[in-house]
Amino acid sequence: MVRPVALDAPADLYWDPFDVELDRSPYSVWKRLRDEMPVYRNERFDFWALSRYEDVAAASRDPHTFLSGHGTVLEIMGPELRRPGLIIFTDPPDHGPLRALVSRAFTPRRTAELEERVRSICTELLDAQIGSGGFDYVADFGAQLPSRVISALLGVPGSDRPEVLALIDRMFHIEPGVGMVNDVSFGASIGLHDYLAGQLRERLTRPRDDLLSALVEELSLEEATGFANLLVSAGTETVGKLLGWAAVVLDDFPDQRRRLVEQPSLIPGAVEELLRFEAPSPVQGRWTARAVTLHGVTIPAGSKVIMLTGSAGRDERRYPEPDRFDVGRPADQHLSFGVGIHFCLGAALARLEGRVALEETLARFPAWSVDRDRTVRLHTSTVRGHSKVPILVG
Ligand code: HEM
Repeated sequence: MVRPVALDAPADLYWDPFDVELDRSPYSVWKRLRDEMPVYRNERFDFWALSRYEDVAAASRDPHTFLSGHGTVLEIMGPELRRPGLIIFTDPPDHGPLRALVSRAFTPRRTAELEERVRSICTELLDAQIGSGGFDYVADFGAQLPSRVISALLGVPGSDRPEVLALIDRMFHIEPGVGMVNDVSFGASIGLHDYLAGQLRERLTRPRDDLLSALVEELSLEEATGFANLLVSAGTETVGKLLGWAAVVLDDFPDQRRRLVEQPSLIPGAVEELLRFEAPSPVQGRWTARAVTLHGVTIPAGSKVIMLTGSAGRDERRYPEPDRFDVGRPADQHLSFGVGIHFCLGAALARLEGRVALEETLARFPAWSVDRDRTVRLHTSTVRGHSKVPILVG
Protein backbone atom coordinates (compact mmCIF):
# COMPACT_ATOMS: atom_id res chain seq x y z
CA MET A 1 0.00 0.00 0.00
CA VAL A 2 1.30 3.45 -0.86
CA ARG A 3 0.75 5.72 2.13
CA PRO A 4 -0.16 9.36 1.51
CA VAL A 5 2.66 11.78 2.23
CA ALA A 6 1.99 14.32 4.99
CA LEU A 7 2.51 18.00 4.29
CA ASP A 8 2.67 19.04 7.94
CA ALA A 9 4.73 17.06 10.43
CA PRO A 10 2.63 15.17 12.98
CA ALA A 11 3.10 16.84 16.37
CA ASP A 12 5.19 13.94 17.67
CA LEU A 13 7.52 13.73 14.69
CA TYR A 14 10.54 15.94 15.21
CA TRP A 15 14.20 15.95 14.17
CA ASP A 16 17.02 18.48 14.08
CA PRO A 17 20.81 17.95 13.80
CA PHE A 18 21.61 19.79 17.05
CA ASP A 19 19.64 17.61 19.48
CA VAL A 20 22.20 15.49 21.34
CA GLU A 21 19.55 13.14 22.77
CA LEU A 22 18.00 12.43 19.34
CA ASP A 23 21.50 11.89 17.97
CA ARG A 24 22.16 9.03 20.39
CA SER A 25 19.65 6.88 18.56
CA PRO A 26 18.16 8.66 15.55
CA TYR A 27 17.10 5.55 13.64
CA SER A 28 13.48 5.28 14.75
CA VAL A 29 12.87 8.97 13.99
CA TRP A 30 14.61 8.67 10.63
CA LYS A 31 12.45 5.64 9.79
CA ARG A 32 9.33 7.66 10.52
CA LEU A 33 10.64 10.51 8.38
CA ARG A 34 11.21 8.09 5.48
CA ASP A 35 7.75 6.56 5.88
CA GLU A 36 5.61 9.53 6.85
CA MET A 37 7.41 12.71 5.72
CA PRO A 38 10.09 12.04 3.11
CA VAL A 39 10.22 15.80 2.58
CA TYR A 40 10.39 16.95 6.19
CA ARG A 41 10.01 20.59 7.17
CA ASN A 42 11.56 21.96 10.37
CA GLU A 43 10.17 25.42 11.12
CA ARG A 44 12.25 25.98 14.22
CA PHE A 45 15.59 25.89 12.39
CA ASP A 46 14.15 26.72 8.96
CA PHE A 47 15.31 23.69 6.96
CA TRP A 48 13.98 20.75 4.94
CA ALA A 49 15.27 17.17 5.18
CA LEU A 50 15.39 14.29 2.68
CA SER A 51 15.75 10.85 4.26
CA ARG A 52 15.12 8.18 1.59
CA TYR A 53 18.07 6.64 -0.27
CA GLU A 54 16.70 7.48 -3.73
CA ASP A 55 15.95 11.11 -2.83
CA VAL A 56 19.34 11.71 -1.18
CA ALA A 57 21.15 10.11 -4.15
CA ALA A 58 19.14 12.12 -6.72
CA ALA A 59 19.71 15.42 -4.89
CA SER A 60 23.45 14.68 -4.58
CA ARG A 61 23.61 14.02 -8.32
CA ASP A 62 21.94 17.35 -9.16
CA PRO A 63 24.51 19.96 -8.06
CA HIS A 64 22.94 22.62 -10.29
CA THR A 65 19.79 22.56 -8.15
CA PHE A 66 21.24 21.51 -4.79
CA LEU A 67 24.15 23.90 -4.21
CA SER A 68 27.09 23.56 -1.83
CA GLY A 69 28.31 27.13 -2.27
CA HIS A 70 26.12 28.47 0.54
CA GLY A 71 27.70 26.06 3.02
CA THR A 72 26.92 22.42 3.81
CA VAL A 73 26.55 22.62 7.59
CA LEU A 74 23.24 23.98 8.83
CA GLU A 75 24.61 26.56 11.27
CA ILE A 76 26.70 28.31 8.62
CA MET A 77 24.24 28.11 5.71
CA GLY A 78 22.69 31.29 4.41
CA PRO A 79 22.03 33.42 1.31
CA GLU A 80 25.64 34.59 1.02
CA LEU A 81 28.33 32.36 -0.56
CA ARG A 82 30.85 30.61 1.72
CA ARG A 83 34.66 30.49 1.25
CA PRO A 84 35.04 30.51 -2.55
CA GLY A 85 37.92 28.26 -3.58
CA LEU A 86 37.30 25.58 -0.94
CA ILE A 87 36.31 22.54 -3.00
CA ILE A 88 33.62 21.20 -0.66
CA PHE A 89 31.79 24.58 -0.93
CA THR A 90 32.30 24.95 -4.71
CA ASP A 91 29.55 24.48 -7.29
CA PRO A 92 29.65 23.89 -11.05
CA PRO A 93 31.14 25.21 -13.26
CA ASP A 94 34.11 25.92 -10.94
CA HIS A 95 34.06 22.58 -9.09
CA GLY A 96 35.16 20.33 -12.01
CA PRO A 97 38.42 22.16 -12.88
CA LEU A 98 39.30 22.52 -9.17
CA ARG A 99 38.65 18.82 -8.52
CA ALA A 100 40.84 17.94 -11.54
CA LEU A 101 43.66 20.09 -10.16
CA VAL A 102 43.62 18.65 -6.63
CA SER A 103 43.21 15.12 -8.03
CA ARG A 104 46.46 15.62 -9.97
CA ALA A 105 48.22 16.12 -6.62
CA PHE A 106 46.21 13.75 -4.40
CA THR A 107 46.46 10.66 -6.62
CA PRO A 108 45.44 7.02 -6.01
CA ARG A 109 49.16 6.15 -6.25
CA ARG A 110 49.96 8.51 -3.36
CA THR A 111 47.26 6.79 -1.26
CA ALA A 112 48.36 3.27 -2.18
CA GLU A 113 51.97 4.13 -1.27
CA LEU A 114 50.80 4.91 2.25
CA GLU A 115 49.74 1.34 3.06
CA GLU A 116 53.01 0.34 4.71
CA ARG A 117 53.05 3.58 6.67
CA VAL A 118 49.47 3.01 7.86
CA ARG A 119 50.36 -0.52 8.89
CA SER A 120 53.43 0.52 10.83
CA ILE A 121 51.47 3.21 12.72
CA CYS A 122 48.79 0.61 13.58
CA THR A 123 51.45 -1.88 14.67
CA GLU A 124 53.16 0.67 16.90
CA LEU A 125 49.93 1.85 18.56
CA LEU A 126 48.40 -1.62 19.02
CA ASP A 127 51.55 -3.46 20.09
CA ALA A 128 51.84 -0.97 22.94
CA GLN A 129 48.51 -2.34 24.25
CA ILE A 130 49.35 -6.04 24.23
CA GLY A 131 49.14 -7.33 27.78
CA SER A 132 47.50 -4.12 29.01
CA GLY A 133 44.16 -5.83 29.70
CA GLY A 134 42.31 -2.93 28.09
CA PHE A 135 42.63 0.46 26.46
CA ASP A 136 40.59 3.25 24.91
CA TYR A 137 40.10 2.21 21.29
CA VAL A 138 39.39 5.80 20.19
CA ALA A 139 41.69 7.93 22.37
CA ASP A 140 44.63 5.49 22.26
CA PHE A 141 44.20 4.31 18.69
CA GLY A 142 41.34 5.42 16.41
CA ALA A 143 41.83 9.15 16.91
CA GLN A 144 45.61 8.94 16.63
CA LEU A 145 45.91 6.94 13.43
CA PRO A 146 44.30 9.43 10.98
CA SER A 147 46.19 12.52 12.19
CA ARG A 148 49.48 10.65 11.89
CA VAL A 149 48.51 9.40 8.43
CA ILE A 150 47.50 12.87 7.21
CA SER A 151 50.76 14.37 8.51
CA ALA A 152 52.71 11.68 6.66
CA LEU A 153 50.63 12.17 3.51
CA LEU A 154 51.15 15.92 3.45
CA GLY A 155 54.86 15.59 4.12
CA VAL A 156 55.08 17.23 7.55
CA PRO A 157 58.75 16.80 8.62
CA GLY A 158 59.26 14.30 11.46
CA SER A 159 60.59 16.94 13.85
CA ASP A 160 57.41 19.04 13.47
CA ARG A 161 54.97 16.15 13.87
CA PRO A 162 54.42 16.32 17.65
CA GLU A 163 53.51 20.02 17.34
CA VAL A 164 51.23 19.40 14.34
CA LEU A 165 49.52 16.43 16.00
CA ALA A 166 48.88 18.57 19.10
CA LEU A 167 47.38 21.34 16.92
CA ILE A 168 45.09 18.86 15.14
CA ASP A 169 44.01 17.45 18.48
CA ARG A 170 43.18 20.92 19.84
CA MET A 171 41.34 21.81 16.63
CA PHE A 172 38.72 19.20 17.51
CA HIS A 173 38.38 20.39 21.09
CA ILE A 174 34.72 20.52 22.12
CA GLU A 175 33.35 22.71 24.88
CA PRO A 176 29.99 22.10 26.51
CA GLY A 177 27.37 24.53 25.23
CA VAL A 178 29.46 26.03 22.43
CA GLY A 179 30.73 22.85 20.75
CA MET A 180 33.52 23.36 18.25
CA VAL A 181 33.20 27.15 18.30
CA ASN A 182 35.61 27.83 21.17
CA ASP A 183 38.91 29.65 21.72
CA VAL A 184 41.04 26.50 21.98
CA SER A 185 39.77 25.14 18.67
CA PHE A 186 39.92 28.54 16.98
CA GLY A 187 43.50 29.18 18.12
CA ALA A 188 44.61 25.73 16.94
CA SER A 189 42.95 26.23 13.52
CA ILE A 190 44.86 29.47 13.04
CA GLY A 191 48.06 27.80 14.23
CA LEU A 192 47.64 24.93 11.77
CA HIS A 193 46.73 27.30 8.94
CA ASP A 194 49.88 29.38 9.55
CA TYR A 195 52.03 26.28 9.84
CA LEU A 196 50.74 24.81 6.55
CA ALA A 197 51.08 28.16 4.77
CA GLY A 198 54.72 28.35 5.94
CA GLN A 199 55.45 24.81 4.75
CA LEU A 200 53.79 25.44 1.39
CA ARG A 201 55.79 28.68 0.93
CA GLU A 202 58.96 26.71 1.57
CA ARG A 203 57.96 24.07 -1.01
CA LEU A 204 57.64 26.82 -3.65
CA THR A 205 61.40 27.27 -3.64
CA ARG A 206 62.46 23.83 -2.38
CA PRO A 207 60.00 21.21 -3.63
CA ARG A 208 60.12 17.69 -2.18
CA ASP A 209 58.41 14.45 -3.12
CA ASP A 210 55.31 15.07 -1.01
CA LEU A 211 51.69 16.16 -1.33
CA LEU A 212 52.39 19.73 -0.12
CA SER A 213 54.86 20.21 -3.00
CA ALA A 214 52.40 18.71 -5.49
CA LEU A 215 49.69 21.09 -4.21
CA VAL A 216 51.72 24.29 -4.70
CA GLU A 217 52.47 23.13 -8.23
CA GLU A 218 48.76 22.97 -9.07
CA LEU A 219 47.17 25.69 -6.91
CA SER A 220 47.80 29.23 -5.67
CA LEU A 221 49.35 29.46 -2.20
CA GLU A 222 46.02 30.49 -0.70
CA GLU A 223 44.09 27.67 -2.41
CA ALA A 224 46.74 25.12 -1.46
CA THR A 225 46.61 26.22 2.19
CA GLY A 226 42.81 25.98 2.22
CA PHE A 227 42.90 22.53 0.64
CA ALA A 228 45.61 21.17 2.97
CA ASN A 229 43.54 22.42 5.90
CA LEU A 230 40.42 20.78 4.47
CA LEU A 231 42.26 17.45 4.16
CA VAL A 232 43.13 17.64 7.84
CA SER A 233 39.62 18.50 8.99
CA ALA A 234 37.78 16.17 6.56
CA GLY A 235 40.16 13.26 7.00
CA THR A 236 40.80 13.12 10.73
CA GLU A 237 37.58 13.19 12.71
CA THR A 238 35.64 11.05 10.22
CA VAL A 239 38.14 8.17 10.22
CA GLY A 240 38.40 8.34 14.03
CA LYS A 241 34.61 8.01 14.24
CA LEU A 242 34.58 5.08 11.79
CA LEU A 243 37.07 3.22 13.99
CA GLY A 244 35.11 4.00 17.17
CA TRP A 245 31.99 2.57 15.53
CA ALA A 246 33.99 -0.50 14.48
CA ALA A 247 34.85 -1.24 18.13
CA VAL A 248 31.24 -0.75 19.30
CA VAL A 249 29.38 -2.47 16.45
CA LEU A 250 31.68 -5.51 16.21
CA ASP A 251 31.19 -6.02 19.94
CA ASP A 252 27.41 -5.70 19.46
CA PHE A 253 27.59 -8.40 16.74
CA PRO A 254 30.27 -10.86 17.99
CA ASP A 255 29.27 -13.48 15.40
CA GLN A 256 30.22 -11.01 12.66
CA ARG A 257 33.51 -10.26 14.42
CA ARG A 258 34.25 -13.97 14.53
CA ARG A 259 33.62 -14.24 10.78
CA LEU A 260 36.24 -11.53 10.19
CA VAL A 261 38.79 -13.28 12.41
CA GLU A 262 38.23 -16.55 10.55
CA GLN A 263 38.08 -14.96 7.10
CA PRO A 264 40.04 -11.68 6.94
CA SER A 265 39.21 -11.34 3.22
CA LEU A 266 35.76 -10.16 4.43
CA ILE A 267 37.32 -7.07 6.08
CA PRO A 268 37.04 -4.65 3.09
CA GLY A 269 33.31 -5.49 2.85
CA ALA A 270 32.98 -5.06 6.63
CA VAL A 271 34.36 -1.51 6.32
CA GLU A 272 31.63 -0.69 3.76
CA GLU A 273 28.97 -2.28 5.95
CA LEU A 274 30.17 -0.24 8.95
CA LEU A 275 29.95 2.95 6.89
CA ARG A 276 26.39 2.07 5.82
CA PHE A 277 25.33 1.01 9.29
CA GLU A 278 26.73 3.95 11.29
CA ALA A 279 27.65 6.81 8.96
CA PRO A 280 30.37 8.95 10.63
CA SER A 281 29.16 12.00 8.66
CA PRO A 282 25.39 11.43 8.40
CA VAL A 283 24.15 14.91 7.49
CA GLN A 284 25.05 17.00 4.38
CA GLY A 285 23.46 20.40 3.71
CA ARG A 286 22.53 22.01 0.40
CA TRP A 287 20.89 25.27 -0.77
CA THR A 288 18.18 25.14 -3.45
CA ALA A 289 18.93 27.15 -6.60
CA ARG A 290 15.28 26.81 -7.71
CA ALA A 291 11.99 25.50 -6.37
CA VAL A 292 11.87 21.68 -6.27
CA THR A 293 8.73 19.53 -6.02
CA LEU A 294 9.17 16.07 -4.54
CA HIS A 295 6.49 13.66 -3.28
CA GLY A 296 3.96 16.44 -3.85
CA VAL A 297 5.78 18.92 -1.61
CA THR A 298 7.40 22.08 -3.02
CA ILE A 299 10.66 23.25 -1.48
CA PRO A 300 11.06 26.94 -2.44
CA ALA A 301 14.17 28.35 -4.11
CA GLY A 302 16.73 29.60 -1.57
CA SER A 303 15.93 26.92 1.06
CA LYS A 304 18.25 24.92 3.28
CA VAL A 305 17.97 21.20 2.59
CA ILE A 306 19.58 18.50 4.69
CA MET A 307 20.37 15.20 3.02
CA LEU A 308 20.32 12.45 5.61
CA THR A 309 22.94 10.06 4.27
CA GLY A 310 22.82 8.29 7.64
CA SER A 311 19.13 7.54 7.11
CA ALA A 312 19.70 6.49 3.48
CA GLY A 313 21.93 3.66 4.74
CA ARG A 314 18.99 2.24 6.74
CA ASP A 315 16.35 2.67 4.05
CA GLU A 316 14.39 -0.58 3.80
CA ARG A 317 13.42 0.41 0.23
CA ARG A 318 17.08 -0.15 -0.69
CA TYR A 319 18.44 -2.63 1.89
CA PRO A 320 16.69 -5.80 3.03
CA GLU A 321 16.71 -5.95 6.85
CA PRO A 322 18.62 -2.65 7.09
CA ASP A 323 19.08 -2.83 10.88
CA ARG A 324 20.99 -6.11 10.62
CA PHE A 325 24.78 -5.71 10.52
CA ASP A 326 26.12 -8.26 8.04
CA VAL A 327 29.75 -8.19 6.91
CA GLY A 328 28.83 -10.45 3.97
CA ARG A 329 26.13 -8.10 2.62
CA PRO A 330 26.40 -7.82 -1.18
CA ALA A 331 28.36 -4.74 -2.29
CA ASP A 332 26.20 -1.69 -2.93
CA GLN A 333 26.96 1.98 -3.31
CA HIS A 334 26.14 3.36 0.13
CA LEU A 335 25.94 7.15 0.40
CA SER A 336 28.18 7.56 3.45
CA PHE A 337 30.98 9.02 1.28
CA GLY A 338 28.43 11.14 -0.60
CA VAL A 339 27.80 10.59 -4.32
CA GLY A 340 28.10 12.72 -7.43
CA ILE A 341 30.61 15.52 -7.93
CA HIS A 342 31.44 15.91 -4.20
CA PHE A 343 32.04 12.17 -3.65
CA CYS A 344 34.63 11.95 -0.88
CA LEU A 345 38.06 12.66 -2.29
CA GLY A 346 39.65 10.74 0.57
CA ALA A 347 37.45 7.62 0.25
CA ALA A 348 40.35 5.41 -0.91
CA LEU A 349 42.48 6.60 2.00
CA ALA A 350 39.64 6.13 4.52
CA ARG A 351 39.03 2.60 3.18
CA LEU A 352 42.74 1.82 3.42
CA GLU A 353 42.91 3.06 7.02
CA GLY A 354 39.73 1.18 7.97
CA ARG A 355 40.89 -2.08 6.42
CA VAL A 356 44.44 -2.04 7.82
CA ALA A 357 43.23 -0.92 11.27
CA LEU A 358 40.78 -3.84 11.43
CA GLU A 359 43.30 -6.34 10.09
CA GLU A 360 45.87 -5.36 12.69
CA THR A 361 43.31 -5.11 15.52
CA LEU A 362 41.74 -8.52 14.90
CA ALA A 363 45.15 -10.17 14.47
CA ARG A 364 46.05 -9.09 18.03
CA PHE A 365 42.67 -8.89 19.74
CA PRO A 366 40.18 -11.35 18.20
CA ALA A 367 37.60 -10.37 20.84
CA TRP A 368 37.00 -7.51 23.24
CA SER A 369 34.20 -6.12 25.33
CA VAL A 370 33.27 -2.46 25.32
CA ASP A 371 32.99 -0.91 28.77
CA ARG A 372 29.54 0.52 28.02
CA ASP A 373 29.30 2.70 31.11
CA ARG A 374 32.47 4.56 30.24
CA THR A 375 31.99 5.24 26.54
CA VAL A 376 31.65 8.94 25.69
CA ARG A 377 29.59 10.06 22.74
CA LEU A 378 30.67 12.98 20.62
CA HIS A 379 28.19 15.07 18.77
CA THR A 380 28.86 17.94 16.43
CA SER A 381 26.56 18.93 13.62
CA THR A 382 28.90 17.22 11.13
CA VAL A 383 30.08 14.01 12.75
CA ARG A 384 28.44 11.30 14.82
CA GLY A 385 30.36 8.86 16.98
CA HIS A 386 32.44 8.55 20.14
CA SER A 387 35.36 10.34 21.72
CA LYS A 388 36.03 7.46 24.12
CA VAL A 389 35.44 3.72 23.70
CA PRO A 390 37.22 1.85 26.52
CA ILE A 391 37.58 -1.83 25.71
CA LEU A 392 38.65 -4.83 27.78
CA VAL A 393 40.84 -7.32 25.99
CA GLY A 394 41.76 -10.84 27.08
C1 HEM B 1 35.35 7.41 7.05
C2 HEM B 1 35.90 8.53 6.65
C3 HEM B 1 35.23 9.58 5.80
C4 HEM B 1 33.90 9.83 5.60
C5 HEM B 1 32.69 9.11 6.20
C6 HEM B 1 33.82 10.94 4.67
C7 HEM B 1 32.64 11.48 4.19
C8 HEM B 1 32.56 12.43 3.19
C9 HEM B 1 31.31 12.89 2.60
C10 HEM B 1 29.91 12.42 2.99
C11 HEM B 1 31.64 13.81 1.65
C12 HEM B 1 30.66 14.55 0.72
C13 HEM B 1 30.24 15.86 1.33
C14 HEM B 1 29.16 16.55 0.52
O1 HEM B 1 28.57 15.93 -0.37
O2 HEM B 1 28.88 17.72 0.83
C15 HEM B 1 33.09 13.96 1.65
C16 HEM B 1 33.79 14.83 0.85
C17 HEM B 1 35.15 15.05 0.97
N1 HEM B 1 36.04 14.31 1.74
FE1 HEM B 1 35.60 12.77 2.96
N2 HEM B 1 35.09 11.34 4.35
C18 HEM B 1 35.98 10.52 5.00
C19 HEM B 1 37.36 10.58 4.93
C20 HEM B 1 38.07 11.52 4.23
C21 HEM B 1 39.53 11.59 4.16
C22 HEM B 1 40.47 10.60 4.82
C23 HEM B 1 39.83 12.70 3.42
C24 HEM B 1 41.16 13.26 3.02
C25 HEM B 1 42.32 12.84 3.34
C26 HEM B 1 38.58 13.29 2.97
C27 HEM B 1 38.47 14.40 2.17
C28 HEM B 1 37.30 14.85 1.58
C29 HEM B 1 37.23 15.98 0.65
C30 HEM B 1 38.40 16.85 0.20
C31 HEM B 1 35.89 16.11 0.26
C32 HEM B 1 35.29 17.15 -0.68
C33 HEM B 1 35.24 16.63 -2.11
C34 HEM B 1 34.57 17.60 -3.06
O3 HEM B 1 33.87 18.54 -2.61
O4 HEM B 1 34.73 17.42 -4.30
N3 HEM B 1 37.54 12.56 3.48
N4 HEM B 1 33.62 13.09 2.59
